[in-house]
Amino acid sequence: MCGIIGMIGANSVVPYILEGLRRLEYRGYDSAGISTLVKGVVNRRRAEGKLAKLEKKLKDKPLTGNIGIGHTRWATHGAPNLINAHPHVSGPVSVVHNGIIENHKKLRTDLVASGFVMETDTDTEVVAHLVKYYHDQGLSPEEIMRSIIERLNGAYALVIMIADYPGTLMAARKSSPLAIGYGNEAMFIGSDALALAPMTRRISYLEDGDWAIVGQDYSNIYNAENKQVERPINLTEVSGALIGKGKYRHFMDKEIHEQPEVIGYTLSAFYDPNSGRMKMPELPFDPTLLPKLTIIAAGTSYYAGMVAKYWLEGLARLPVEVDIASEFRYRNSVLPKGGAALFISQSGESLDTLMALRHAREVEQHIISLVNVSESTIARESDIVLKTLAGPEISVASTKAFTTQLVVLLSLAVDWAHKRNFLNKKVSATIMTELSRLPITMAEVLADQGRWKACAHELALAKDVIYLGRGLNFPIALEGALKLKELSYIHAEGYAAGEMKHGPIALLEEGMPVVMVAPYDEWFEKTASNLKEALARGARVILLSDKEGIKRLDDEPAWVFEMPKVHPLIAPILYSLPVQLIAYHTANEKGTDVDQPRNLAKSVTVE
Ligand code: F6R
Repeated sequence: MCGIIGMIGANSVVPYILEGLRRLEYRGYDSAGISTLVKGVVNRRRAEGKLAKLEKKLKDKPLTGNIGIGHTRWATHGAPNLINAHPHVSGPVSVVHNGIIENHKKLRTDLVASGFVMETDTDTEVVAHLVKYYHDQGLSPEEIMRSIIERLNGAYALVIMIADYPGTLMAARKSSPLAIGYGNEAMFIGSDALALAPMTRRISYLEDGDWAIVGQDYSNIYNAENKQVERPINLTEVSGALIGKGKYRHFMDKEIHEQPEVIGYTLSAFYDPNSGRMKMPELPFDPTLLPKLTIIAAGTSYYAGMVAKYWLEGLARLPVEVDIASEFRYRNSVLPKGGAALFISQSGESLDTLMALRHAREVEQHIISLVNVSESTIARESDIVLKTLAGPEISVASTKAFTTQLVVLLSLAVDWAHKRNFLNKKVSATIMTELSRLPITMAEVLADQGRWKACAHELALAKDVIYLGRGLNFPIALEGALKLKELSYIHAEGYAAGEMKHGPIALLEEGMPVVMVAPYDEWFEKTASNLKEALARGARVILLSDKEGIKRLDDEPAWVFEMPKVHPLIAPILYSLPVQLIAYHTANEKGTDVDQPRNLAKSVTVE
């Protein structure tokens, strides 16, 4: 993962590199570092932990220079400590890297045999030594790049600086993203447009296998065959404005509260409530002839895919398979001719999902993506891009991206159900009208959080929590458990309510919290039986249901939260809110780092 940046300009580059790193911290925050060149000498500052620590170091011991590179790390190889923090240096060479050099052990052995001394446990250090090895042989920057690329296996985005070339940065990408920014008397290289947007809107995305030599007013780009190529310069739509928390304590709190608004925006891109017409993009295939849809994603986005399976199969009678990206890629799955694959990703950069997309393309599937970052690699490599209009999601735990994904997926299911003749106009209109009302209903749920906080106060003492849901709400139980564990570090598991009795029920003991996601629907009576089974074993049940569901219970769970009544197909979107609130407030009770939980990163760009 990690975020990387490089800059060459007329003035000191350090404030710009820091600004870029602030915007890249979502990619990792185990350590941060910057190297610059001053009078032909490499100067480096690094700090373990978040960028704020590096900023403090720089205040105490400032750094200057009009060429430099920076890094924010999510540790893969080697502990998240100072010694392993990038940039890594070898004599006059300084390197920042995002990705994993898979053959680093072999290179390490070769380099040690040539006399190099390894100082870190990282895979990246070998790149610095390899560059020095070729530099010592008198090779030019172009020749060095060609030589190292031949020897590197794995995924990488690299920015390299050599003290003997104070006017040149070198860059390369394979599987990890990298963009070049064209400024006024300055050039930039960065992991994404977000990092570069405050400095320039003129961005060129490197393609897989590309490498580049960048000077203060030029960039020479070469493809994987070492042929010089032009890559278009686009005006990025990414805003350079600083994204703040406003009146909220955390980005997550802000993003939870933005949901009514961004769901409204997203829905209006796919549905016109006045005419009742769907506004889906043109497809390169006919959904009535589609033999199968394969949905692939990771984490929370995968749970959105799971909900979509219920909608697409139930409404559109379309066979759907949902797979975890990291599994799908290597499973040798059977994909029918003329099939389509849908990739769901907030960031559009999750490497597992991207690799799965490339595999699906190789086996001739139509490629659809559902992304929040519209200039992302996944979006750029898709035939059709569906966009969630959630706006930048900064908090590591996904909230508004998930619910907007669900809105788009339900709209798609209704549209295809109608086209495939399984849903008449009237029923489609009912679902879409109810979906249009969702922002108002969500705002009601968010209005008063006193009882969520009280419940979280109790949950914060738990060691284990179980989440149960059935049908469309089973993925919401999984999402609830994921949110709780990643934010509060409490062990939590989500199960299909009916699966409980097949094993997990053995975990239940006196006082164990069990969160039941159970709106009143066609499966409610069965879920109510599972609730009884949990109560009978002393569990402290936290019930999320509506008036009708609560009325039908003759038991008394420890906590009952009455949710507004919505159409059963829409319930998973609405019930995402309470599971987010429970996790958020529990994390606050425990005092964990809500926006940047330990060991995580917002964009997971390693396999
Ligand atoms: C959990 C969370 C992660 C992401 C996952 C996929 O709150 O945010 O599980 O959903 O890493 O990320 P994207 O959607 O960017 O591909």
